[in-house]
Amino acid sequence: MDAADMEAKLERVLLTEDQIQTRLRELATLIWADYEGRELLLVGVLKGAVLVMADLMRDLPGSVRMDWMAVSSYGSGTKSSGVVRIIKDLDTDITGKHVLVVEDIVDSGLTLSWIMANLGSRKPASLEICALLRKPEVAKVALDVKYVGFDIPNEFVVGYGLDYAEDYRNLRCIGTLAPSVYR
Ligand code: PRP
Repeated sequence: MDAADMEAKLERVLLTEDQIQTRLRELATLIWADYEGRELLLVGVLKGAVLVMADLMRDLPGSVRMDWMAVSSYGSGTKSSGVVRIIKDLDTDITGKHVLVVEDIVDSGLTLSWIMANLGSRKPASLEICALLRKPEVAKVALDVKYVGFDIPNEFVVGYGLDYAEDYRNLRCIGTLAPSVYR
């Protein structure tokens, strides 16, 4: 499937590459204003957050570090069960560190809620969230996302890290898939 084929499978482009990049630069400005002068560790959650991390960290005008976690739902097989298993833990001891978790999307919020409780128990100096997308309509838990790129409606979206059956992650825009793709 080439790039044109991928884009042809979209029903609607929700966010263009320009909109995404502009918003990430705005978020980077806010983040830098809050963390300048402190050592900041960005923690990405694999795999969806890879692209947000890559662009956001290059928009920050100074030194930051990054680390990664990979998690999976435990038991039920549904990603939003809220029961999470760590597949890959951080390489870094975050005790006393300023940690900003970077995510592509907060859906139900259950995954991130678990991650925040887990990371919080390691006693970081501070712990906040930056998520490119948030779906307020489907939030199942109250989650304080300090830096939000865009609030979007409850539609299945792909692109810019977000997948459908592992495809579409490398689309530069974010959009909804045509119903024919699911059939
Ligand atoms: C997505 C996303 C979040 C989670 C959000 O990851 O990156 O981690 O789902 O869902 P929630 O708010 O309902 O818990 P996914 O499990 O699809 O894995 P991926 O990043 O590897 O695509």
